[in-house]
Amino acid sequence: MKNAFVKNILCIGAGYVGGPTMAMIAYKCPQYKVTVVDINHERIAQWNSDLLPVYEPGLGEIVGAVRGRNLFFDTDIDRCIKEASIIFVAVNTPTKVFGAGAGMAADLQYWEKTARQIREAAGSPKIVIEKCTIPVKTALAMERILTSKEGSVSFDVISNPEFLAEGTAMRDLEFPDRVLIGSRETAQGIRARREIADIYANWVPKERIIESNIWSSELSKLVANAFLAQRISSINAVSALCEKTDADVQEVARAIGLDSRLGSKFLNASVGFGGSCFKKDILNLVYLCRSYGLNEVADYWESVVKINEYQKDRFVLTMLSAMFNTLAGKKIALFGFAFKADTGDTRETPALYVAKSIVEERAELVITDPQALRNAMADLDGVDNITYEIDPYKAAAGCDAIALMTEWKLYTGLDYERIYASMMKPAFIFDGRNVLDRKRLFEIGFNVFSIGKTPMVHV
Ligand SMILES: NC(=O)c1ccc[n+]([C@@H]2O[C@H](COP(=O)([O-])OP(=O)(O)OC[C@H]3O[C@@H](n4cnc5c(N)ncnc54)[C@H](O)[C@@H]3O)[C@@H](O)[C@H]2O)c1
Repeated sequence: MKNAFVKNILCIGAGYVGGPTMAMIAYKCPQYKVTVVDINHERIAQWNSDLLPVYEPGLGEIVGAVRGRNLFFDTDIDRCIKEASIIFVAVNTPTKVFGAGAGMAADLQYWEKTARQIREAAGSPKIVIEKCTIPVKTALAMERILTSKEGSVSFDVISNPEFLAEGTAMRDLEFPDRVLIGSRETAQGIRARREIADIYANWVPKERIIESNIWSSELSKLVANAFLAQRISSINAVSALCEKTDADVQEVARAIGLDSRLGSKFLNASVGFGGSCFKKDILNLVYLCRSYGLNEVADYWESVVKINEYQKDRFVLTMLSAMFNTLAGKKIALFGFAFKADTGDTRETPALYVAKSIVEERAELVITDPQALRNAMADLDGVDNITYEIDPYKAAAGCDAIALMTEWKLYTGLDYERIYASMMKPAFIFDGRNVLDRKRLFEIGFNVFSIGKTPMVHV
């Protein structure tokens, strides 16, 4: 049967990036056939079911509207490569855990396998787009792999990093601040990047689609994440000073955020940043700098990660010292486990560090979260003394303390009088996101510990 679509687009990797991004392209461009493949067959089955593998506000509606129309999830990777003219690569690029660069460099094994598979199955010219976050100069390696077979077809490698943030992915995809497309600055490279720009031009205003040389594009993604994380670590570093000086970090953040040169975003002090990207991308940048002999530059960016570790540690130490230097035998509820609100993702969540530390102190832990319990159970598999409870009221009952880990809106609207009444006394709240009404909580009877503020204690 003849394909009625004007283009066949393929995405390899059906994760947090591949699934939502392709759903948006399919939604906005009914003239294209969009297919997403993955080596993980279970994940593909979930994408084809009512229970999607990724929780993201608005995602279910869009997938529901386009799945089976021009969005397809498939497992036959070779056939789909053959049929597509444009191939996005959105496989995972985690931090390497073995060999040279372990703990810092990006692990490019999934990416490389994909490149080889594209080369073997292609059969006709393709535009291959790096959607995943990779070290600068990876496109060169991609080109080498793709063209290393005698008589191979022609490939254009394009860098089109994804800037979506989990929790707001659909909004970020529909109204992106910018779409960045980098290519070789040859006539053929520029032609290929224009073809990708044409896809986005179906819904993104022209002035927001920016083109650049391919190395700038690759590096911009790492630098964007490094700058974002740096703001969080900067305000978190200041939060430690506020606690020593009776300054209030939120007042400081407001005062500096009104400076139009700085802006107000990403100035919320917290227990620390998490997510699959910030840490790994900064370490990737650090590794790159070191490999070019730029040790001072590497140290500068590495300190962003160090402050984040320090902040998580400080949070646990605050709990310990507030609760009379022992957590043993006490019961503590974690409100939230996802690395931030509106996602079920728990990769690099600060809650994992806090949970493990609390259990090491021999406390009993109850974890509650509206979306992340399944992942929390997997992350803490084999750790004793933890129960999982979807209802925050039940989770808090009988506890000595609540530690708020994720800024889910639901936690700001709870009946804290009822919660207080059900807890052991003295009752403590440690607000790791500064979202609760601390004055009110103190009036109810809680001992309240926030980030970067003077504690409010009765005892
Ligand atoms: N998660 C985010 O918020 C975010 C945002 C921007 C960019 N990124 C980048 O996008 C990339 C993907 O991230 P993610 O969060 O979607 O990862 P993910 O782990 O959720 O998804 C990656 C998928 O790729 C699949 N895969 C791995 N090797 C494969 C292969 N050879 N063939 C087919 N499928 C394969 C895996 O099975 C997995 O389902 C990473 O480089 C990440 O840094 C992520």
